[in-house]
Amino acid sequence: MRFDIITVLPSLLESPFAHSILQRAQNKNIAEIHVHNLRDYADNKHKSVDDYQYGGGAGMVMQIQPFANCIEKLKSERTYDAIVFMTPDGEVFNQGIANSFSTKKNLMILCGHYKGIDQRIRDVFVTHEISIGDYVLSGGELPAAIFTDAVIRLIPGVLSDETSALSDSFQDNLLDAPIYTRPAEWRGHKVPDILLSGHETKIREWRHDEQVKRTRERRPDLLKD
Ligand code: ADE
Repeated sequence: MRFDIITVLPSLLESPFAHSILQRAQNKNIAEIHVHNLRDYADNKHKSVDDYQYGGGAGMVMQIQPFANCIEKLKSERTYDAIVFMTPDGEVFNQGIANSFSTKKNLMILCGHYKGIDQRIRDVFVTHEISIGDYVLSGGELPAAIFTDAVIRLIPGVLSDETSALSDSFQDNLLDAPIYTRPAEWRGHKVPDILLSGHETKIREWRHDEQVKRTRERRPDLLKD
């Protein structure tokens, strides 16, 4: 799966993809991540990518031309399944949306900055608008990294034990059960006996009960469907 991410701050996206599972996915050629510097596509000599807002108001707006040049160049090289714009007014991201993107082949992601991007870029090019939550960040780079991480770890072959993605929180609309490792007792706090019993069926039942209990307490909204 290929990701093309367009940003004015490419260096912000270096570290998130250079470690652990995401790095492994790239080394195994399961995921390719290409970060494009929007300024390289600006026609003007100062490489500026923003301008004042029509109608007045604080904050600069990202212009059409650099985005259009970059998007059209990429589109001339391959077909994209989706062009995603990270924005606080998009659809709120969740595990179901991550699942739906994990089967795609080529994704383009646009990161906004400043006040936002010219609406016509959204109207003409963007197929999906995604928010990572009801708060406003300084730009779309961290949201793009979060989106990409959530999608890549779902691609078959990325996680060494494939079932571990299936047992993640949210995968069945349930939060995770409590987990423990050695020692079996720490400062008087004991690991639940059932987990030491070796009884697989009972452990599975206990975990499921704990998932339901935790979800009911913390996120009853997830149990509604
Ligand atoms: N850009 C700024 N804030 C954002 C958010 N919450 N989600 C996606 N993109 C954003």
